[in-house]
Amino acid sequence: MDFDALYQGQSVTYSGSDQQLDTIPWRLDGPQPVVVELADNGEFTGPVLESGCGLGDNALFLAERGYQVTAFDAAPTAIEQDRAKAAERGLKVDFVVADATTLDGIEGGFNSVLDSAMMHCLTDEQRVDYLTALHAVCNPGALLHILCFPDLIEALFPLPGHTDEASLRRDLGRHWRVDRMQMRSYTTGLTQDQWAAAMPPSAAVFLPAPDSPAGVDDQGRLQLPVWQIRAVRA
Ligand SMILES: C[S@@+](CC[C@H](N)C(=O)[O-])C[C@H]1O[C@@H](n2cnc3c(N)ncnc32)[C@H](O)[C@@H]1O
Repeated sequence: MDFDALYQGQSVTYSGSDQQLDTIPWRLDGPQPVVVELADNGEFTGPVLESGCGLGDNALFLAERGYQVTAFDAAPTAIEQDRAKAAERGLKVDFVVADATTLDGIEGGFNSVLDSAMMHCLTDEQRVDYLTALHAVCNPGALLHILCFPDLIEALFPLPGHTDEASLRRDLGRHWRVDRMQMRSYTTGLTQDQWAAAMPPSAAVFLPAPDSPAGVDDQGRLQLPVWQIRAVRA
C-alpha cells in the first residue's frame, strides 16, 4: 500500500486487491488505548523507539509522559506532519524517515521499542531483517512491545507476510525472547458503519452484531483483533 499517498490525502488501493481506501483507519487523534495501558503499567523505559509511527500520536503521548522518544516511518509525508504536530504542542520527539528493514539513520541505545501495527506491513523476509536491525539498535534487556494483526484479519485486507503465532514466534526467537503473546483489541478510528461502507463483504466477520457492545469502544470505534507481544532483547 502507498502509505505516503494516503497521508497526502489521496485514495489508495491495497496491494493484492482492488479495494480502495480513502480514509486513514488508524487515525485516532490520540494514542492507541493499549499503548496508554502499557505506559500506565510502567512498561516503557527511555530512550524509546517507535517503529512505523504514522500519525505520531503514540510518540507524542510518550513524550508527554516524559520519555525521550525517537519515532520513524518510511512515509516522509507522515514524518513532516508529525514534526509540525510536535512543534505545535511544544513536545520534543526525534521524528525520522527510515525503513524498518535497515533502520539506516537510527542511532542505537534504546531500552524500549513500540511497534503499533507496523510489523504486519512487512513480508516474512523483511520481518527477519527488521527484527535483526532492531536488535542492533537496542540495549541488552530492552523491551519490545508489538501490536500485530493476525492472519485471520485477511478477511478484511491482505497482509504481505504470515502472522500466525508460530511464524511470529519463529522470527522473533532469533534475537528476542517472547515472554507474552496474547490476543487483544486494536482500536480503529472508524465506526461500524464506516467500516461496512469502506470494506468488502468479507469484512462482515469483524462487524459485531447490531446493538452489541462487543468489538466497539465507548466512543463507537470498531476494535480489531491484534496480537499483543512483549519480548526481551536477548
Ligand atoms: C497501520 S499504520 C500504523 C501507524 C501507527 N503506528 C498507529 O498504530 O497508528 C502502519 C505504518 O507503518 C509504516 N510502514 C510500513 N512499512 C514500513 C517500513 N518498511 N518502514 C517504516 N515504516 C513502515 C507506514 O507508513 C504506516 O505509517
